[in-house]
Amino acid sequence: MAERFRVVGGASLQGEVPVWGAKNSALKLMAAALLAVGRTRLTNVPAILDVTIMAELLRRLGCTVDYDAPTGVVEIDVPEQVGHRADYDLVRALRASTAVLGPLVARTGAADVAIPGGDAIGSRGLDLHAAGLEALGASVHVTHGFLVAEAPRGLSGAEIHLEFPSVGATENVLTASVLARGTTRLENAAREPEIVDLAEMLNSMGARVTGAGTSVVEIEGVEALRPTEHAVVADRIAAGTWAFAAVATRGTVEVVGGVPEHLTAALELVRASGATVEPTARGFRVDTGGRRATAFDVATLPYPGFPTDLQPFALAANAVADGSAMITENLFEARFRTVQELNRLGAETRIDGHHVMVHGVERLSGAPVEASDIRAGAALVIAGLVADGVTTVSGAQHIDRGYAGFAEAMQGLGADVTREPDDAPYL
Ligand code: UD1
Repeated sequence: MAERFRVVGGASLQGEVPVWGAKNSALKLMAAALLAVGRTRLTNVPAILDVTIMAELLRRLGCTVDYDAPTGVVEIDVPEQVGHRADYDLVRALRASTAVLGPLVARTGAADVAIPGGDAIGSRGLDLHAAGLEALGASVHVTHGFLVAEAPRGLSGAEIHLEFPSVGATENVLTASVLARGTTRLENAAREPEIVDLAEMLNSMGARVTGAGTSVVEIEGVEALRPTEHAVVADRIAAGTWAFAAVATRGTVEVVGGVPEHLTAALELVRASGATVEPTARGFRVDTGGRRATAFDVATLPYPGFPTDLQPFALAANAVADGSAMITENLFEARFRTVQELNRLGAETRIDGHHVMVHGVERLSGAPVEASDIRAGAALVIAGLVADGVTTVSGAQHIDRGYAGFAEAMQGLGADVTREPDDAPYL
């Protein structure tokens, strides 16, 4: 049954909150397990719906997958023979399913992956993924809604220059080239910590990847890979979520497990808002001293720039900040859906192309709103905390895709956030 979050405004978040492994890494690492026959074990995997969907996809390819959500362990047993098809029902539910493209072409010489449909955050092509695989010698075409890549005689190392440092395309080139003949040099690669995490896992499987985390990655192909055990890197987007939640609610929050070095651009803006950020033995602490944030401008960029996934939280914090801010979205064209919903809560905003001007108000005003994606949903819950009265955020399943135990984590910080059926009367 559809659920929503019910948020009673007024709390200033206080205390500590844990972050787990990154969703955006765990899913790719699960796909990468396909590269080696045998049992790969991943730890620090978040307890989220998306992991369940990726597990189902791997099962349909012939793997045995054990996912113990409470302990965060996923074990994937990969057989000698794996399938090579990712169906539309799964790709539609989980866009990151496209991460099986690279491993499947490398392992089986073929991949049929359904093309994801419309996405709540803009149109996101697969052209760079396809170009990368073609450069490695695969033939790629689109038929009946599937992207089909074929390399019956295997892949060969190549020089590849990505037009844009796409995260997904970088990952697919990496996972395809580790078993290619010869060396691949990937230029203008994405530099996200999740890319580094993937490269580290691949190297622990016997791959030879150097330069991950920089713009130039070199991959020396090897004959075969072996299964491994790997702990997923901390979720920098979840960590950033809590940092901006503290800023918006004038709170003090220790993000346990957060890695400040992965959030340099975001934490600079947290400081610009007037809060202090200090590393702690277990993560980092954001302390606003109970003061209202000063408005701060934001422009999203590929890593190490400010992450687009944190843009909705910067919006929510600026909606109640002192002054006006300009938020510029440079990665995804339709990622301003949070704005319409924030306006329903009384935010003062004006969209102009890929910019939003936000004029901070003292407090928002509670109302029913709707989550359109993971981050927008979580940002609306935070907005509900700085609104008078009750805010309900429909579409709880979006938030569940990215945050394990979101309501419980909020409650642990002193907020009145609960789940309820979506047909319950408002108030
Ligand atoms: C990943 C993250 C997502 C994050 C994004 C940018 C996962 C599961 N998702 O998405 O949360 O917001 O990185 O940090 O890891 N593009 C093309 N053609 C392509 C590939 C990408 O035009 O072949 C464009 C997209 O439309 C978008 C931009 O490049 O405008 C960035 O996309 P990309 O870096 O590939 O993001 P994802 O890997 O899809």
